[in-house]
Amino acid sequence: MSRYLITAALPYANGPVHIGHLAGCYIPADIYARYLRLKGEDVKFICGSDEHGVPITIKARQLGVSPQDVVDKYHTIMRDAFFQFGISFDHYSRTSAPIHHRTASEFFKTLYDKGVFIEETTQQFYDEEAKQFLADRYITGTCPRCGYENAYGDQCENCGSSLNPTDLINPKSKLSGKTPVLKPTKNWFLPMDKIQQSEEFQEYIKRFDNWKPNIKGQCASWLNEGLQPRAMTRDLDWGVKVPLPDAEGKVLYVWFDAPIGYISASKEYMPNDWEKYWKQQPDEKDNPTLIHFIGKDNIVFHAIIFPMMLMTHGGYVLPGNVPANEFLNLEGDKISTSRNWAVWLHEYLQDFPGREDELRYVLTSIAPETKDSEFTWKDFQARVNNELCAIVGNFVNRVVVLSNKYFEGNLSTDINIESHPYHAAIAELYQRYDEAMNNYQFREAQSCAVEVARIGNKYLTEKEPWKKYNAADAGSVNETRDVLINCFSIIAKMGLLFKPFIPRTADKIFNLLNISAEKQKLVKKDNMVREEDNFLDSHKIKIHTSSVILFQKIEDEPIEKQIQKLHDKKVMNNQQTSAAANETLKEQLAETTFDDFSKMDIRVATILEAERVPKTDKLLKLLLDTGIDKRTVVSGIAAFYDPEKIIGQKVVMLANLAPRKIKGIESKGMILMAENEKGELSFISPQKDVITNGSTVK
Ligand code: MF3
Ligand code: ZN
Repeated sequence: MSRYLITAALPYANGPVHIGHLAGCYIPADIYARYLRLKGEDVKFICGSDEHGVPITIKARQLGVSPQDVVDKYHTIMRDAFFQFGISFDHYSRTSAPIHHRTASEFFKTLYDKGVFIEETTQQFYDEEAKQFLADRYITGTCPRCGYENAYGDQCENCGSSLNPTDLINPKSKLSGKTPVLKPTKNWFLPMDKIQQSEEFQEYIKRFDNWKPNIKGQCASWLNEGLQPRAMTRDLDWGVKVPLPDAEGKVLYVWFDAPIGYISASKEYMPNDWEKYWKQQPDEKDNPTLIHFIGKDNIVFHAIIFPMMLMTHGGYVLPGNVPANEFLNLEGDKISTSRNWAVWLHEYLQDFPGREDELRYVLTSIAPETKDSEFTWKDFQARVNNELCAIVGNFVNRVVVLSNKYFEGNLSTDINIESHPYHAAIAELYQRYDEAMNNYQFREAQSCAVEVARIGNKYLTEKEPWKKYNAADAGSVNETRDVLINCFSIIAKMGLLFKPFIPRTADKIFNLLNISAEKQKLVKKDNMVREEDNFLDSHKIKIHTSSVILFQKIEDEPIEKQIQKLHDKKVMNNQQTSAAANETLKEQLAETTFDDFSKMDIRVATILEAERVPKTDKLLKLLLDTGIDKRTVVSGIAAFYDPEKIIGQKVVMLANLAPRKIKGIESKGMILMAENEKGELSFISPQKDVITNGSTVK
């Protein structure tokens, strides 16, 4: 038995969790943790909320509350959503916990006392309007290497280069949109250039050879460029205070403090034993294995910076693997919290209660393991209906129904289930499954479980007991019983392979077959992975239910509703002049049918009143005369028109758009605007005076 410490990236507590998070990080981590448990390994699976960092302070400012209020709210929402989806963390903590502040602070102090840091006064970007120094992620500009215009101060997501904010061409503050100024400030830097040269680090990076190609590639590109010292402290008032006398107003860099969150969460969970899961042991053979599951935007922090911290601290083991995933897109577009282009877990749970396993299954089937992938609702429906219902659920139910019909659910007999004809094929699937799991190829491993169900269906169809069964013929009764027992054995094996993927469904199967938790294990015998002996006891098969519906078919209607819901959100965003969203709306409109078009009530209206919506810089509140009524519409045009100058302006509007609350104001309809490629907007208005308020546009 080996010891494993599995982590999943601590999510920022500044918003709820969406399917991209699940598919990219939390489901794969959970699958792996559950798989190792199935194999009897000693696993601790740790996570928690990342509650520091600038995004949280920004959110708090937007909402007019304290950062602590923000993280308290989202910490609970996130934790609950994870547990509802069966993410089997042994412990879910948070970085605002006192034990974390203590641990991170001590860690920093150890490095400081060892003389690891370089203390340096440097010029840092400062936003004069927001009156604060800017974190790397809050400065965007053009990447000096590839010319991508939206590179962050620490990294270009287009070419993967690691950057410093001052490398950016034409930097802009994300807080105010203004060009930031440079101001001197003292900080403590991790000399990553020097550490890169060290023997210990050179030894460590040999591990990358066995890691997934996407990680290896990214790391190689950073290392080839040569790493630069990076500040481990920041001028900010939210976070873990820098534990030094002359560090007023400074906190630990969130990327220094957050990964230490894995350690503090382990300490909180195992006050006496945590070191066994983190530290080098007297005998190297007893060292624990540390695995970090993350999304691709976290690679440098887990594969390079955190190991450097652990290494310079001393005593810790270094990451054994960092199986990062790429990104999941949604219905043809990047998932975006700010544009509300996402499927939120709490909304899914409301709309599809009790159907967590279906989402887990689909997200694993399309997981972005080697490249970006895409979730669409139609594909979700197809996979649930054609795979989970038609193959997996259907097989189980057929077998249960036949057992009830012919044997009143009581099949107990003594047959050697290992000898049935499909045993060899399933045994081979076990090996494929195991190898895929060990290589973090979860899509492949899950498909092996489905394959077992296919084999079962095929077997049952070939044997066709419903044709052969004859109550008067003892031979045929016995044969039917054997066939059904063999089928249950296939179901049991399938349940075992599915356990890491769709745990609740697997438990339903184990309950049905009365397979105890201790028996739910994968073991290795004669170099073959297999289940425990007598996993399914054929002496004791007694089915107590009349039918077993593991999965319900998903009809078209709820799927269309979901698609509509997403697109409604998108229209909202377009109105708020998000240029990127506009692009995709245009694509959508290219496919509009005439029927769709005629559902839209487009008419001419006149602006009667206009004023700015307080605390926003994009929105105007307009009163429109539509010919049928006078109504309020909120429109994202403030950057292009002054409210005083548009009174009396004729416009074209979509009058039957579902009413929406925007900044607390009910907006009924949407003004249609023409937009150029720079995102500049203009009204469209009729050319002749005979066109009056209420005239329709066709
Ligand atoms: N909060 C970060 C994110 O969501 C991830 C932090 S992972 C940790 O991108 F290692 F730093 F904890
Ligand atoms: Zn770049």
